[in-house]
Amino acid sequence: MTNPHLKEEVAKRRTFAIISHPDAGKTTITEQLLLFGGAIRQAGTVKGKKTGNFAKSDWMEIEKQRGISVTSSVMQFDYDGKRVNILDTPGHEDFSEDTYRTLMAVDAAVMVVDTAKGIEAQTKKLFKVVKDRGIPVFTFMNKLDRDGREPLDLLAELEEVLGIESYPMNWPIGMGKGLEGLYDVYHKRVELRHPEQYDNERFIALDETGNIPTAHKLYSNDVYSQAQEDIELLLEAGNEFSTERIAAGELTPVFFGSALTNFGVQTFLETFLQFAPEPQGTKTIDGEMVSPYTEEFSGFVFKIQANMNPAHRDRIAFVRIASGTFERGMAVNLSRTNKAVKLSNVTQFMADSRENVETAVAGDIIGVYDTGTYQVGDTLRQGKLKVEYEELPTFTPELFMKVSAKNVMKQKSFHKGIQQLVQEGAIQLYTTVQTNDYVIGAVGQLQFEVFQYRMLNEYNAEVVMSPMGNKTARWIDPEDFDERMSSSRNILARDRFGNPLFLFENEFAMRWFSDKYPNVELKSLL
Ligand code: G4P
Repeated sequence: MTNPHLKEEVAKRRTFAIISHPDAGKTTITEQLLLFGGAIRQAGTVKGKKTGNFAKSDWMEIEKQRGISVTSSVMQFDYDGKRVNILDTPGHEDFSEDTYRTLMAVDAAVMVVDTAKGIEAQTKKLFKVVKDRGIPVFTFMNKLDRDGREPLDLLAELEEVLGIESYPMNWPIGMGKGLEGLYDVYHKRVELRHPEQYDNERFIALDETGNIPTAHKLYSNDVYSQAQEDIELLLEAGNEFSTERIAAGELTPVFFGSALTNFGVQTFLETFLQFAPEPQGTKTIDGEMVSPYTEEFSGFVFKIQANMNPAHRDRIAFVRIASGTFERGMAVNLSRTNKAVKLSNVTQFMADSRENVETAVAGDIIGVYDTGTYQVGDTLRQGKLKVEYEELPTFTPELFMKVSAKNVMKQKSFHKGIQQLVQEGAIQLYTTVQTNDYVIGAVGQLQFEVFQYRMLNEYNAEVVMSPMGNKTARWIDPEDFDERMSSSRNILARDRFGNPLFLFENEFAMRWFSDKYPNVELKSLL
């Protein structure tokens, strides 16, 4: 059935992820956004109260509450005539390849930075993926209610550390206890932090010289003149505002604010929704783009979340709808197997409940109950639409474990389990060339634990894992392959496609190798 409102509905979608280093304020700002959207009624409902720095052994306990984190994987609300989908990119112990893959399913990213800390490690990693996709990035400089670093410094850091140019949409007037407001360059107004101290007006319009009226009490405040000076400098010597460059991910609009005290968040949301792109086309393996407005439904699986409750071995396959309309119960074709699958048990996600979804359109995310049918990267398509979407990239793992079956009698189930989990995208697998050992690689510790747990519970294979410490993985051209290049400082292995790679002990070992074999190119994945 066709959807007469498809075009209108798709154009309303805004699908994005928030990337940040743990503790920068991602949860707090997400909650504020959901409050504005009316999706929740009080703060503190997105995640159960944080368990603090939970130890690894507490992980199963957390998994028992998995219902909460599955629900918060995608949050949807309506605002200003737009349907907003926020995709969660878990941090802390939850960091995994899925975190990266989620960024393949969004049209924009919001980067939350703690103004006291600047760009931190995890933000940098996630940003790299976003940059590679060339999607727009919006920056929210958070925690302005506390003393942080100089705003000019923070902008310089965006450029130096991330290599992205910036445009300040607003600028702090003071900071910490002395925060008076935001000089809103884009809306040509000043937004006051304490309107009650100034005639109860929240906004003061700027005149044509870019000033608030000289009679205003704030005018003679030092922090106001400082903000004025900074802004003058930036507008003269800084980057120019350009919607094209924002859309191309070359220029990030920067907003300042404080998520905790809800200052600047609404302005951010409203401006963000103005510039955030509607769903874009999706590339097929043949390099063609499929428009989201194509009538037939299609989508791709970007993440599979296993249910850790032993009573429910099902998983949820997260599907980004790339085109058309989803309708509950519809039959689609799974490209990899070329078999028909019926999408009956499908959920969408509101912040405080899972709901069975009847229809959804391009740009939306649906969660399909899975009993082992789907793999990360799978394409689902309807009718005559014979597309196959581009493979999702594989990310360079940083953590490695040697893995073997505890019980030699269980070799068969061990191999079956490992092959299936690798195919599903749960973990990466390598075989060492010299000793034929299995090595698994991950970007986050949690992936190993999920692997071990699922091997036991789904394949009845107890595994022994021995950590190999940090390694740097680099691929080489198959033509360069030569066993003699292997030394005590590296391990030569092959990935599951047979491509050769080295696991180097450290950067030093890698440089030593490059000096010795200058003609061998070392390549990393994303
Ligand atoms: P995350 O999801 O990025 O990990 O960060 P989260 O929102 O959980 O915030 C981390 C900590 O920073 C929390 O404090 C939170 O209250 C605080 N925070 C977030 N935004 C702001 C802000 O604008 N200003 C200030 N001053 N603090 C902010 P916590 O003490 O770790 O947790 P909680 O016990 O207060 O929840």
